Amino acid sequence: MLNTTDLQKEILKLKKEKCVCILAHAYMTHDIIEIADYVGDSFGLSKQAKEAPEKTIIMCGVRFMAETVKILSPEKTIILSHPEAGCPMAEQLEVDELKRLKKDLPNATVIAYVNTTAALKCECDMCVTSASAVELVKNLENDEILFIPDPNLGSFVKKAVPNKKYHFINGGCPVHMGISYEDVAYAKSKHPNAKLLIHPECKKEVTACADYVGSTTGIMGFVKNSEENEFIIGTENSIVEHLKFEYPDKKFYPLSKKCVCSDMKLTTLVDVYNCLLGIGGEEILLDADTLKGARKCIDNMLK
Ligand code: 13P
Ligand code: SF4
Repeated sequence: MLNTTDLQKEILKLKKEKCVCILAHAYMTHDIIEIADYVGDSFGLSKQAKEAPEKTIIMCGVRFMAETVKILSPEKTIILSHPEAGCPMAEQLEVDELKRLKKDLPNATVIAYVNTTAALKCECDMCVTSASAVELVKNLENDEILFIPDPNLGSFVKKAVPNKKYHFINGGCPVHMGISYEDVAYAKSKHPNAKLLIHPECKKEVTACADYVGSTTGIMGFVKNSEENEFIIGTENSIVEHLKFEYPDKKFYPLSKKCVCSDMKLTTLVDVYNCLLGIGGEEILLDADTLKGARKCIDNMLK
């Protein structure tokens, strides 16, 4: 039986032989992060997907991330590491419901958080990620915005760029929305000297308490550049695990032990191995119209 190290060695060997690029979202477990060619937030992954020279990419993450990679590199073979790994928030809005909202708000620019299906992106003007949203909205000429599907990221943008009119839907990330103000009060009382770092998918009353609000990569970058020694991490708890590996002398506490994304946790090292053997994962296939429509929305973000 292979142990973790043996399996990692096999994966690295197969990856090289078959010329495959492995992309991993930062919510993957540490054993997967160690064998990935690139680890990052949604924005970093989408840029990396475009630049990777390999013709086959295994995306260790959730479906919308693999779709984004396919939209940016339609000529490549894109494998989602686990067929069942989806993001519940990405599917919160039906395409028909979005069409109806657009009819009611004919002057609004429709902004899609990257956590949306490819079909929804086809109906939107521009995509944003947690790392790019504030900057992109700031530079937008139009003053009226329909922001889908995350009202929490939307509210965070609104706070940073208040001189626009925003419309939100009733949605959000079920994992980050599970963090409450009481969790913040409790964590701060236990660790009064720790800096509080929060993902913008958290509720308004939680982000309002933060010392820093940013994407997964932003949170890790904050720690890298900080002289502080203690941090409370308000996002999926894999980030706590990665930070503990990277900075063993510093202290990291999860803001809530419930902040675990079960979809992100579906992919195992064995799944990655099986993808490389051609007996696991799912190849992402999108029709020509979807590729074209969603590409416009993503290109408007990247340019
Ligand atoms: P990031 O872009 O910050 O990695 O966020 C993606 C995500 O799904 C967070 O829940
Ligand atoms: Fe989706 Fe939330 Fe999981 Fe991120 S943490 S993939 S937004 S359900």
